[in-house]
This record gives sequence, C-alpha cells and structure tokens, in this order.
Amino acid sequence: MNDELYHPVTIGNLTIAGNVFLAPLAGYTDVPFRTLAKEGGADLTFTEMVSVEGLSREGEKTMTLLERSPLELQYGVQLFLYSTDSLPQALDMLAPFSPDLIDINCGCPVPKVTKTGAGSAMMSNPALITKAVRIIKDRTGLPVSVKLRIGWDQQRRNYLTFSQAALDGGADMLTLHARTRSQGYAPSAEWGTLATLKRYTVEGGYAVPIFGSGDLFAPIDAKRMLQETGIDGVMFARGAIGNPTIFSQAKAILQGQEPLPPSHTEIRTQIMHHLDLMIAHYGEEAACKAMRKHAAAYLKGIARSAAIKQALVQALKREEYRVALVDL
Ligand SMILES: Cc1cc2nc3c(=O)[nH]c(=O)nc-3n(C[C@H](O)[C@H](O)[C@H](O)COP(=O)(O)O)c2cc1C
Repeated sequence: MNDELYHPVTIGNLTIAGNVFLAPLAGYTDVPFRTLAKEGGADLTFTEMVSVEGLSREGEKTMTLLERSPLELQYGVQLFLYSTDSLPQALDMLAPFSPDLIDINCGCPVPKVTKTGAGSAMMSNPALITKAVRIIKDRTGLPVSVKLRIGWDQQRRNYLTFSQAALDGGADMLTLHARTRSQGYAPSAEWGTLATLKRYTVEGGYAVPIFGSGDLFAPIDAKRMLQETGIDGVMFARGAIGNPTIFSQAKAILQGQEPLPPSHTEIRTQIMHHLDLMIAHYGEEAACKAMRKHAAAYLKGIARSAAIKQALVQALKREEYRVALVDL
C-alpha cells in the first residue's frame, strides 16, 4: 500500500499523475464540465456512459458524447452494453477518439438501461463482463476498468465474485460504488465494502487499483475514504456538481494543507466561466437553459440565493446570468 494518501496510479500500461478522479455522470460530464474539472484539479475524467449499440451504429448523439476537451490530455470513455455482438464494431468507431482507458458501466440503475441487461443488470451476468473486458483489451490494447455496485439488491451482494469475473477477463482497475442497485443513490454508501474489495484483490495477488465512489460530497471526504478503507483512489460524482474545484481542495487536504472553500466572488466567476464554456459548446440559448441545473448546484446552501435562482429559471441570455449574479 502507498504511504502517501495522494499518489500516482498505474492502470495497466497507463500512469495517471494522481488518484483523485471525476466519475462519469450522465447528463453532466459533457465537454464543458470536464474542462472545468480538469481546471479544478481532476487527475482523470470520464465521458458520460456511451451505448455500445449507439456507437456501433455511429449515432450522431452518441459520437458527440465522445468529444474530448482540449485539457483532457488523458481521458476515459465509459461504455455500457448488454451483449458483445456489436462490441468489435463499436471499438473501431471509438478508435479515432484515442481514449486512454475504457470503463465498463455495471452500475447504472435506470430501468431503461437495466431492462436490456446493461448497467447494474450486468452484475447478474458475470460471464459477460469477463468476455467484454477480454474483447476490449484484445482489440484495443487499452487498459480496461469496471465500475460496479455492491450487487443488484441486499439478497444478491455479489461484488466480490463479479469483481473476480472482471479480473478473469483482465480488468486493470475496479471502481466500486458502494451501494446496491436497489439503493439507487441513498442511503449512505457502505464504505466497508471498499475495504473488503481491496483486501480481496490484494490477497488474490492482483495489483489493480481499487477506486471508491459513494458519498464523496466534500473535499475532506476523499481523505476519510482513503484512510478508512485503504483503497487507491476516489471518484467524485455529485460532489463535483456545482463545485468543480473540489478536486484541488481534496488534493490539498490529502497533502496536509487546509484549503479555503471558494468565496462568493469566486463562485460567481466560476458560474460565468462555466456558462461561457457551455455557450462556446452549445450556443447561447441552449447553454443558458442547460446551465440552470448547474447554477442551482453552485448556489446550493448560499443564504439569500433564492432570488438569483428564481431569476435564472427564465434566463436565455448570458447578460441575464451576469445581472442576476451581481448580488452574489
Ligand atoms: C445524475 C447522475 C448521473 C450518473 N451517471 C453515471 C454514468 O453515466 N456512469 C456511471 O458509472 N455512474 C453514473 N452515476 C453514478 C456516479 O458516478 C457515482 O458512482 C454515484 O453518484 C455515487 O457517488 P456520490 O454518492 O459521491 O454521488 C451517475 C450519478 C448521478 C447522480
């Protein structure tokens, strides 16, 4: 085990400078968001989950999900699948994007995804993960990670046998979202399972990094998770929404510093910068609409922000954001 809490990570043939990552977040981790996360100190970023079926058919919407931010010198692409039939073709479509790592989603609880057998439903099909990991590695030569949950529900907590199936296929990293599928995103994540998974892989002689996800809401949570579980790294998810500097703050804490949270002025600057990145990517009106949920997250917990949020509900222009935020 590494003595330092903040340290580089080796994932197969890939080395990442640090162990504080941004998790895939469907509907959030687009190019502007990942640009902010990189500026905010994320050591590795992932696309939203991308359908293998959509990719193999070269669906336009699917292809835009794969775009890389100029700041992403390294990035991971997350795929979801229910069969390996279209996988070779999808990987060929993916090749021009040159991802550094491919992650397989085995955690999504959304019925639209699980009813096909993808996302967390894959946990009921360990033979499929072994096969999928093997095919991706053979065809691309890239490192492959698997993001899983504890299991489908409390009766089927098979994260260890499922992890073994991924390792049998040659998985180079595992990320455990420490909840079952039936728990969704609450109650509290069971961090004890992260320690158990780490112990399991070490005792099995596997040198793959184990990452943890679940209830990383504040910068200090990264330190708590690493100290309490002995795992190798963390993936911030909801904690990064409306707080893209959470990565550098967490890293400072892991290195023994006491960073200050962003001031209101810094938050205002951050929101406008985020909006500008969105405008460059989507155009003004679409960006102003899509930015509303982000703005609400930036303003969460700030006293007297209700009026600002109210003003932004209708905002369609950058200028309206600028004026609404003057009072922050
Ligand atoms: C809106 C939303 C979208 C998500 N999309 C994905 C996804 O595309 N792929 C994935 O593996 N996990 C996804 N997740 C799960 C997160 O990556 C993370 O594992 C989970 O939110 C637990 O971490 P947290 O409690 O710190 O938020 C999503 C979660 C949320 C809330």
